[in-house]
Amino acid sequence: MAQEFKLKGIGSLNLKNGDKQEAEIEGIENGKVLLVKVNDRISATSANCTHYGAPLVKGVLTGEGRLTCPWHGACFNVASGDVEDAPALDPLATFEVIQKDGGVFIKGDEETIKANRRSLGFKCSAQGNEKVLVIGGGSGTLGAIEGLRGGGYTGHITVLSKEGYRPVDRTKLSKALLADVSKVAWRSEDWYKNASIDIISDEASNVDFGAKKVSTKSGKTYDYTKLVLATGGTPRWLPLPGLKGDLGNVFVLRSVPDAQGIVESVGENGKKIVVIGSSFIGMEVANCLTGKKNDVTVIGMEKAPMERVMGEKVGKIFRGLLEKNGVKFHMEASVDKATPSKSDSSKVGAVHLKDGTVLEADLVIEGVGVGPATEYLKDNKAIELLKDGSVSTDESFAVKGLKDVFAIGDIATYPYHGPGGNGSPVRIEHWNVAQNAGRSVANSINSPGAKPKPFIPVFWSALGSQLRYCGNTVGGYDDIIIQGEPEKPSFIAYYTKGEEVVAMASMMKDPYMTQTAELMRRGKMPTKSELQKGVDILDINIPAEIKI
Ligand SMILES: Cc1cc2nc3c(=O)[nH]c(=O)nc-3n(C[C@H](O)[C@H](O)[C@H](O)COP(=O)(O)OP(=O)(O)OC[C@H]3O[C@@H](n4cnc5c(N)ncnc54)[C@H](O)[C@@H]3O)c2cc1C
Ligand code: FES
Repeated sequence: MAQEFKLKGIGSLNLKNGDKQEAEIEGIENGKVLLVKVNDRISATSANCTHYGAPLVKGVLTGEGRLTCPWHGACFNVASGDVEDAPALDPLATFEVIQKDGGVFIKGDEETIKANRRSLGFKCSAQGNEKVLVIGGGSGTLGAIEGLRGGGYTGHITVLSKEGYRPVDRTKLSKALLADVSKVAWRSEDWYKNASIDIISDEASNVDFGAKKVSTKSGKTYDYTKLVLATGGTPRWLPLPGLKGDLGNVFVLRSVPDAQGIVESVGENGKKIVVIGSSFIGMEVANCLTGKKNDVTVIGMEKAPMERVMGEKVGKIFRGLLEKNGVKFHMEASVDKATPSKSDSSKVGAVHLKDGTVLEADLVIEGVGVGPATEYLKDNKAIELLKDGSVSTDESFAVKGLKDVFAIGDIATYPYHGPGGNGSPVRIEHWNVAQNAGRSVANSINSPGAKPKPFIPVFWSALGSQLRYCGNTVGGYDDIIIQGEPEKPSFIAYYTKGEEVVAMASMMKDPYMTQTAELMRRGKMPTKSELQKGVDILDINIPAEIKI
């Protein structure tokens, strides 16, 4: 039951528009709220982000009352607490603020205050003839189904996923190698039942877009009134002897069973592990496994890890961080093959490089990229896949040339209007991009004709220290301005094309990434020359008007 709780040490409310203040709550152990003032109105919300718990007092508050988390870009409306942008799923709790008797009080129930969120539990009994069918059970799907029910959709929702379990936090698989669905699932099975969302374990094998039916490997068909394609990426295997799935203890990493395979093979640790590929997944899994006292070597083709996206200078910072943790590197190296172990010819024993180097290996993990998982659409005459196998969409993620069909996440190529984008087609493999696209589709279904809500792509990674990244370099970049102390590592890297900042990366510099994303969204990011003259982006007020 709601009751009034006094805020510790606050006699009166002296906030200015744009201010945030965290306050402890008397009588509730570790109880905290966040007070914010926007448009002359003071709101009290949960103090921490509902994604991984970042302190929102360190986030970025904008003129129209968006509060963006300093860590991974989740965004909330401070008046309602509602989620505006991924990756948070639950909204913030909001509380009435009362000023009386020389003190400030909030009104709420103890359980909600302690939970630090408004737990989103939909009680719905689907009805009517409308049926949304979502193929895939990942990040895009989460955004779509939570956005649909959250936006008041009462029709039927069916999720067809070959993954075999409910949506999980895929991003944790490479950072912590969590191999237990119950530890990485976002919601309980009952949650989906209560929300009247049917999750069916099956693989889509074909779509009849004319008859609005999807057929599956198990021989069933499912009809729809709206279809969302969200089938993500299929990890690539190197087409080389011993590395194309033909030897045991060689893994790719996309799903919980992949993580389970790696964990089992690593066993009691102390193993020789070769990671092929120095991009995000390879680097994260190498960092995770070296922490468990294994002997880990990363093989990469470029001069520095993640060079293609982050540039050589920044890539070298990441290499240094992992080396400090014990990871070894073979860069500018090409893999030739893997050969079996002498003691068990069904399992890998060594990785051979083209320069003749032989690296002993108890197990090998390949992180060499993914391709859009669209095999079930390949021979479909009604849809033309792009060269890379992805699906071309408009700004609302509606599939070009098809009615009532959307594509989101790793399979979708959409027009990018962020800085440097100019509407260029881009396919972005980020957790938030998939989920925001899912939310956007839900909004289009709930409010036909609604304008798509623009978002700036945000990415994060764990590379011995937390990396944050926003923007995109679809049109390329020609310079990187690095500020701070990369060796600590406490730095910001601005990726520029001409005078325009098109992307930024940071470590230990919160909330610079979030501030950058909000400024980019409004076309207010300073120019390269302004940054070089010393403009600090945290000094710039964020106006309400959206420009992208
Ligand atoms: C290990 C790992 C770590 C990552 N870490 C980060 C990170 O830290 N930050 C970040 O921004 N991004 C990260 N990513 C990328 C991010 O997870 C993806 O961009 C995101 O999951 C894409 O969402 P999606 O919905 O398009 O696809 P997915 O989440 O991959 O979901 C696709 C779903 O479709 C199912 N499916 C495929 N084909 C069929 C079919 N024919 N029929 C039925 N179901 C099918 C799959 O089984 C799966 O359930 C990581 C990815 C991986 C693999
Ligand atoms: S903790 Fe807030 S977005 Fe991740």
